[in-house]
Amino acid sequence: MGRLGFRVALGCAAVSCAIAAALVGRRLRSRRQWSRAVELVREFEEACATPVGRLRQVVDAMAVEMHAGLASDGGSKLKMLLTFIDKLPDGSEEGTYYALDLGVTNFRTLRVHLGGKPSMILNNKVECQPIPKELMTGTIEELFNFVALTLKKFVQREENGVDQISDNTKDLGFTFSFPVKQLSVSSGLLIKWTKGFSVKDDVNDTVGTLALCHYGDEDTVAAVIIGTGTNACYLERTDAIIKCQGLLTNSGVMVVNMEWGNFWSSHLPKTSYDISLDNESSNPNDQGFEKMISGMYLGEIVRRVLHRIAEESEIFSDAAQSLSAPFVLRTPLVAAMHEDDSPDLREVGRILEEHLKMYGVSKNAKRLIVHVCDIVTRRAARLAAAGIVGILKKLGRDGSGGVASGRTKGKPRRTVVAVEGGLYTKYSIFREYLNEAVGEILGEEVARYVLLRCVDGSGIGAALLAATYLSANR
Ligand code: BGC
Repeated sequence: MGRLGFRVALGCAAVSCAIAAALVGRRLRSRRQWSRAVELVREFEEACATPVGRLRQVVDAMAVEMHAGLASDGGSKLKMLLTFIDKLPDGSEEGTYYALDLGVTNFRTLRVHLGGKPSMILNNKVECQPIPKELMTGTIEELFNFVALTLKKFVQREENGVDQISDNTKDLGFTFSFPVKQLSVSSGLLIKWTKGFSVKDDVNDTVGTLALCHYGDEDTVAAVIIGTGTNACYLERTDAIIKCQGLLTNSGVMVVNMEWGNFWSSHLPKTSYDISLDNESSNPNDQGFEKMISGMYLGEIVRRVLHRIAEESEIFSDAAQSLSAPFVLRTPLVAAMHEDDSPDLREVGRILEEHLKMYGVSKNAKRLIVHVCDIVTRRAARLAAAGIVGILKKLGRDGSGGVASGRTKGKPRRTVVAVEGGLYTKYSIFREYLNEAVGEILGEEVARYVLLRCVDGSGIGAALLAATYLSANR
């Protein structure tokens, strides 16, 4: 080999060595990046763990807090608001009723035509309207004037354009997705109804859900909403309500709006991500249970975990910036990524690109993202399950009284819990986790008697309550 040939050979060897070193270096760096990302997810998973023993502690804490909230106002973080609803529809209601269902961003006007026994809804018409943005930040009078006017138009359309409202009072149920401290079935709000409507009941949305489910099944004892927000209500014996005794009727029962979103217990598996989410929220130290369970927050928890991974590794390339915006990842997107069963996780890729501007994420990184979605969803569903069993425990329907043996061998009572809200009704993995956890906590034997029934229509429930109260007063 000539001199030149020798130099070229030497040069090539040096380049190959450099490339090999760079490759090894990159591989080592990428391995380190991966192990950091995996470590962060593992730590998060451990902090979110909800073994059945912990869930039972949450069950007990929920039941204890329910007692405390019924004993005195402010006795617990659970508000345990009395609704003054002391009877629920039983399927015999008849006639035509209107209802309003006021949510966070939209409201529904409804007309329900009831045909009497057995639980016949002959006809029901629902119209959904977004609440104009300017009214969301305006005064309560402006909002309710708009709502009342829209309702008036709806009734006119329903009744063939004839303006009968001024001389013909309509019976109206009213349901809210907000806590309302009530003073009676139809008061508790600073609203004056001036357009010929007679508000027979104004109720929290959970109460409407309970009424609707009870209308079709009288074994319904509680209702839970797990949607943007979360809450539960249930039918309580009045002798278990210590506070406000002077205001209670003698019907023996009353629906209690728990406002369970505000529940807190040291047994809840709280992580550093929950703490920072709470600190940076508009209502720190409030709605702690809601912040772990509801649709408003699940996407945000996932985002916070992914953001930390992006900051401490490069497995999502340079996504730290796009993941830094609070609430950019909404819960329906988490559900869609979690439920993506395509072999190449196509839907995950689409969502990352379209909503988070994260391009070229590897398949393994996508898998890790889906795993984070799973951890957050599983914890939420299992905690919601513990909340539900907490209510059953308070009602003595969790089988903890033991099942009698011998000739008096008793069975647990059939118990129905109505469940509404997109997380439960539309997100099948969430629903499966929740149902599974109820079975785990109660044990298969007792769980067979507990039915969780999907319900849609707290507004219809409000119309049914208007019907129940009206027929009782006729
Ligand atoms: C509200 C409750 C409501 C629940 C479900 C929560 O944020 O505080 O009053 O029932 O959302 O809509």
